[in-house]
Amino acid sequence: MDVTRTPDAGATTTFVAELAPDGYGNPPTWADVPLPEADPAPAPSPGPSVAPREPATLVARGVCAWFGSHQALSDVSLQMTARQVTALIGPSGCGKSTFLRTLNRMHELIPKTSLAGSVELDGIDIYGPTLRTTETRVRIGMVFQKPNPFPAMSIAENVVSGLKLSGARKFDRAAVVEDSLRRAGLWNEVKNRLNQPGGALSGGQQQRLCIARGLAVRPQVLLMDEPCSALDPTSTRRIEDTIHELKDSVTIVIVTHNMQQAQRVSDYTAFFLSGEGEPGHIVEAGPTYDVFNDPRDRRTEDYVNGKFG
Ligand SMILES: Nc1ncnc2c1ncn2[C@@H]1O[C@H](COP(=O)(O)OP(=O)(O)O)[C@@H](O)[C@H]1O
Ligand SMILES: [Mg+2]
Repeated sequence: MDVTRTPDAGATTTFVAELAPDGYGNPPTWADVPLPEADPAPAPSPGPSVAPREPATLVARGVCAWFGSHQALSDVSLQMTARQVTALIGPSGCGKSTFLRTLNRMHELIPKTSLAGSVELDGIDIYGPTLRTTETRVRIGMVFQKPNPFPAMSIAENVVSGLKLSGARKFDRAAVVEDSLRRAGLWNEVKNRLNQPGGALSGGQQQRLCIARGLAVRPQVLLMDEPCSALDPTSTRRIEDTIHELKDSVTIVIVTHNMQQAQRVSDYTAFFLSGEGEPGHIVEAGPTYDVFNDPRDRRTEDYVNGKFG
């Protein structure tokens, strides 16, 4: 059943107002909240590392989204299958980022927004009573366009910062740091300087640090909104390698404007479009090879061949 939801005007609005926008259109997240000083000593009796979670399948059904009275998305249904990479493509303004934010309850962080439809994580309605909102955002993480590590915080502290914010207290810090950095493909480059500031890394390294921070909480799904658009080609390929290595352990949904990248990294592709003054919707979705080589819709064919957008 579709239920229109309006965000709670109380705590959410205060939360947003306290945080500075990053200038890249990314809404602030819990990861942007300044952290207290790092603990002087590591946790005394390290428990096991954070338990891995299996990658999960996300299913969106009939998702509509509004900013005030402006409808940005109409009736978007899409299955994002576990152990696959799903690419979202389409011209600017067609609602890709908005759709991504409905998948981990970040849309409602923006004041005066509403949405309809449902999103299920392995069959559990993320907007239902079973999952708390904070738990949803732990299970479904997000990496943004512009790398946003805490610049003055050490590399290691950056990695565990999201985990600490999620409320985890007892974990094997060294194991989480190494494991997350390894999974993000950054360990070898930083293992000898874990106490140096995150801001000293190159742009591509900072983005992998943000991926490591996202992975440290053991999400089942990682949403990536144009994660390479601020990076040079070499760093971009490095992130693409990381995506390949990650996809068996976390479901990945990636927005990209780079048609080659979509073909290199994804198994499944959804093409979004919004007509003049109309909300964004999915024109066509299918296996990536088919969308690029044998599209069913003329508009998809024109877009993937660079005729517009
Ligand atoms: N914070 C916001 N407030 C009002 N309108 C917004 C906001 N973010 C996006 N929109 C509008 O929603 C539509 C979809 O935007 P977006 O999801 O950012 O598209 P894309 O990521 O595909 O470029 C656009 O019309 C955009 O202007
Ligand atoms: Mg966008």
